[in-house]
Amino acid sequence: MSISVPSAKSASLNAAKSAKADEFYTQLTDIEKELKHYKKHFEGKVVYLNCDDPRESNFFHYFSYNFERLGLKKLIAACYKSQDVDLFSAGAAEQAIYLVYEGDKNGSGVPELEEIGVQHFKADGDFRSPESVELLKQADIVVSNPPFSLFREYMSQLIEYDKKFLIIGNMNALTYKEVWPLIKASQVWLGVTRTGTGQMWFRVNEDAPVKTGQRVDEDGVRYQTVGNSAWFTNLDNSKRHEDLILYRPYDPEHYPTYDNYDAIEVSQTVDIPLNYDGVMGVPITFLGKHNPEQFEIVGIAKAPLGEPSRIYPKQTQVGKTGARSAVRKLNDGPALKVKKPPIEKTYYEVDGEYYIQLYARILIRRRKVKP
Ligand SMILES: C[S@@+](CC[C@H](N)C(=O)[O-])C[C@H]1O[C@@H](n2cnc3c(N)ncnc32)[C@H](O)[C@@H]1O
Repeated sequence: MSISVPSAKSASLNAAKSAKADEFYTQLTDIEKELKHYKKHFEGKVVYLNCDDPRESNFFHYFSYNFERLGLKKLIAACYKSQDVDLFSAGAAEQAIYLVYEGDKNGSGVPELEEIGVQHFKADGDFRSPESVELLKQADIVVSNPPFSLFREYMSQLIEYDKKFLIIGNMNALTYKEVWPLIKASQVWLGVTRTGTGQMWFRVNEDAPVKTGQRVDEDGVRYQTVGNSAWFTNLDNSKRHEDLILYRPYDPEHYPTYDNYDAIEVSQTVDIPLNYDGVMGVPITFLGKHNPEQFEIVGIAKAPLGEPSRIYPKQTQVGKTGARSAVRKLNDGPALKVKKPPIEKTYYEVDGEYYIQLYARILIRRRKVKP
């Protein structure tokens, strides 16, 4: 019997699945679109999918079906706390398992059940557990979409064990204190594919809680979009060696400077001026187009990672009625001076001057000489 392609139609699997918030599954097409840029990295390698129920995960499907084409040495997939009827071994429900696949042994051309070694974890298969870490040590490359709530720990573990990886996370994670130093030092970067708005759709179980950002396809399969999703990796890809084409000349009228960081504001990556040699603040989505030979990353305008030159005493908000309220004392992004207090937005007021706070900006500088 061959392993069936994970699909929401496999109701027998899904029905028994709990509706945990982090149970959302990456679509095969999204995996294929990204993975096609990394083929050369996989030859002779052990790949570990450490947050992947092989019965549900399209990552397992992708790597098992492409095992020979990629020239893999071994594929390991770990399933955290098996929560439904175990298809592989009757009576083993509620136990975490991991699978080992070493390629097509019987010449059928597809991965089959008898070719897959099913092992039981003693504990729950948590990616941080000693058993999972032992598997991690065997691996060359880790690929997964880990639970977002544990992204900091997940990334830190990959770095601690010096692993190559290709994982999905929320783009905002790059401003985490555990992640930002790696991005700045060019040890981690974003992958190739992201939709313009960062919307990647993940399949969710039939009984997942109803939330905004969901859709149902014609077969009744439910999908959830999760913010600004992006691939994080330390595997090289050709996209990060392509120059961004710039066409706007610098004009001080159009590029205001921040009050608390020594840089100009560029609100959209496409507007990066082609002839400005100083520091520019760009949205974090710039990193999806970053070629380290074209721009140098000099910092981030977001406390406490980047150090602002000025701390504002408090933020104020003006409501529709004109009522003012102090909302929080905080200074975590770049500030732009404005003539009047903005309506229905938070702002800083210092000595009769008004400043609005922007979202975190990456601070970059054009390289004059390519490294
Ligand atoms: C966002 S889902 C993605 C599933 C799969 N990787 C995919 O992309 O289709 C994250 C998965 O991690 C599992 N998980 C949650 N906590 C975990 C932990 N501590 N260790 C390992 N896996 C965990 C969840 O059960 C869930 O299936």
